[in-house]
Amino acid sequence: MAAPVLVTGGTGTLGRLVVPRLRAAGCEVRVLSRRRRELGEGIEVVTGDLATGEGIDPAVAGAGVVVHCAGSRKGDEVKAGHLVRAASPAGVRHLVFISVVGADRVPQTGRLDRAMFGYFGTKLAAERVVAGSGLPWTTLRATQFFDLVFLTVSQLARLPVAPVPAGIRFQPVDAGEVAERLVELALGPPSGLVPDLAGPRIYELADLLRGYLRATHRRRPLLPLPVPGRAARALRAGANLAPDRAVGRRTWEEFLADRVSSLAGKSASPA
Ligand SMILES: NC(=O)c1ccc[n+]([C@@H]2O[C@H](COP(=O)([O-])OP(=O)(O)OC[C@H]3O[C@@H](n4cnc5c(N)ncnc54)[C@H](OP(=O)(O)O)[C@@H]3O)[C@@H](O)[C@H]2O)c1
Repeated sequence: MAAPVLVTGGTGTLGRLVVPRLRAAGCEVRVLSRRRRELGEGIEVVTGDLATGEGIDPAVAGAGVVVHCAGSRKGDEVKAGHLVRAASPAGVRHLVFISVVGADRVPQTGRLDRAMFGYFGTKLAAERVVAGSGLPWTTLRATQFFDLVFLTVSQLARLPVAPVPAGIRFQPVDAGEVAERLVELALGPPSGLVPDLAGPRIYELADLLRGYLRATHRRRPLLPLPVPGRAARALRAGANLAPDRAVGRRTWEEFLADRVSSLAGKSASPA
């Protein structure tokens, strides 16, 4: 039997789109999660915590390829460290990592930079752990997923006046397309840092919020909020964008229409 592919974060927004694509490609799949759960036929779930390293040895045992999608706002370098320390002696032959566009371009010089945009710093540090692991590796940087942008604008819209960090733009991308590319990379040879994956269009955050308000038939005054610090300045200059890599196909407008109608369908259906 072929060695299973381990998907860390296989229960998250991205990972749960990676898992069925690997299955469709004929792979045995193992998912690492902090919680015990059932994920369906042919998917083994191993419980472990990358923040502490607990349960990671059995998760990587016998795995040929690891697709590392587990992540959070903080401490991804620690998670990557625990993963590679277990994966190296286990003989993993390819580690595929998902990072973020701008990981290397958003400075982390001040306390404010780290407090507000430390996510980019933790992704860069995790990239370095992967690249320095001695394991054959591939890292893909993607822009923000539509789901994250949707969450952001829906949270901003809950406030009576929506504060919008001034000058920040996004080039959101469909998580399904990122999953598709990760699977392609996982089934191919280790390739190091591969070209970025970004969505088809760049938007001001304020415009994304306005689109959401229109789609949900709401009105809110927007309050532009100047954000100090070098990280915010880099973001205003487009550090999180990849205009040359606008290869995503699905548009934000398509995603928004689908998400809003599926939420409306759910709220209309009897409990
Ligand atoms: N969201 C974006 O816009 C975006 C853009 C570019 C790159 N990325 C990167 O893509 C990856 C996936 O993002 P996502 O949006 O899918 O994240 P998500 O929906 O928040 O899911 C996070 C996943 O990480 C797992 N996880 C978190 N902490 C863990 C720990 N200590 N030990 C083991 N597993 C842990 C969770 O598993 P359990 O809860 O089951 O344990 C969950 O499956 C992340 O590395 C993120 O940085 C995201």
